[in-house]
Amino acid sequence: MNDVAAMSDVVAVTDDAGVRTIRMNRPEKKNALTLAMYLQMTRALKEADAADATRCVIIAGAGGTFCAGNDITDFLKAASGGGLDPRAHEFLLALARCRKPLVGAVRGGAIGVGTTMLFHCDHVITGTDATLSTPFLKLGLIPEAASTLLAPMRMGHSRAFSLLVMGRPLSAAEAREAGIVNTVVEPDAVEATALKAAREIAALPPTTVAVTRGLMRGHLDAVMKQIEAESSHFRDLLQSDEARSAFAAFLARKK
Ligand code: COA
Repeated sequence: MNDVAAMSDVVAVTDDAGVRTIRMNRPEKKNALTLAMYLQMTRALKEADAADATRCVIIAGAGGTFCAGNDITDFLKAASGGGLDPRAHEFLLALARCRKPLVGAVRGGAIGVGTTMLFHCDHVITGTDATLSTPFLKLGLIPEAASTLLAPMRMGHSRAFSLLVMGRPLSAAEAREAGIVNTVVEPDAVEATALKAAREIAALPPTTVAVTRGLMRGHLDAVMKQIEAESSHFRDLLQSDEARSAFAAFLARKK
């Protein structure tokens, strides 16, 4: 498929009064991320980073699911072929490097990278129906996006171990209690609540926001190193028989 053609509809980007919304828009596949989506989201984040007019970015999903993680068909192709396209990895780097405040608006499931991207968000709103889960180990993989650094830092080791290693999902209430979600609202109110928070951030003096956020994220070098270290293991594990059979089992489950 032509990347550019595919990008126009699978991610919807809108700008309104200093707030950019990046919406994963593949609801029929629960917003599972394909290469085309990673490319478009990377571009949208880089543009937001560079544009003075953009003061805050909302990351949201279309339909009732935030994001079902990386597309497992793509994982299986990468496992059986030449490995992961490096351009998917660029998304993680752009997310970590983005200097504009990020607001997560989560309805329904946030799985795999759907959850790990939330550790880069500064403010997260979820619906009461939200669950955060990272079933990487069950798929023969390891968590990515610097979550092995950021999750323990944000939630403490024990809760991070339960989520990342044991693969136990967090309900919206548990995620709020763990300190990675700010506010839990009725699912229909997620978008409006996220927009209200983003507008509040956008109305602040941008320089003071940038300086304060930069100081709060003093560990960015460590984050970038962790992303690279995780990726190196991830790429190796993706080629394992264990991972290949887990992907194939998911794709064959309804047949
Ligand atoms: N990759 C590829 N396709 C995916 C997907 C993924 N990560 N997640 C969902 N889909 C597809 C399903 O295969 C299905 O496609 P089909 O209609 O062509 O059969 C469609 O999205 C709807 O999913 P379905 O499983 O029927 O919906 P559900 O409500 O029963 O379950 C999920 C939703 C998200 C819980 C379930 O699809 C799931 O567990 N997905 C995999 C999540 C995952 O392990 N991600 C990788 C993390 S590292």
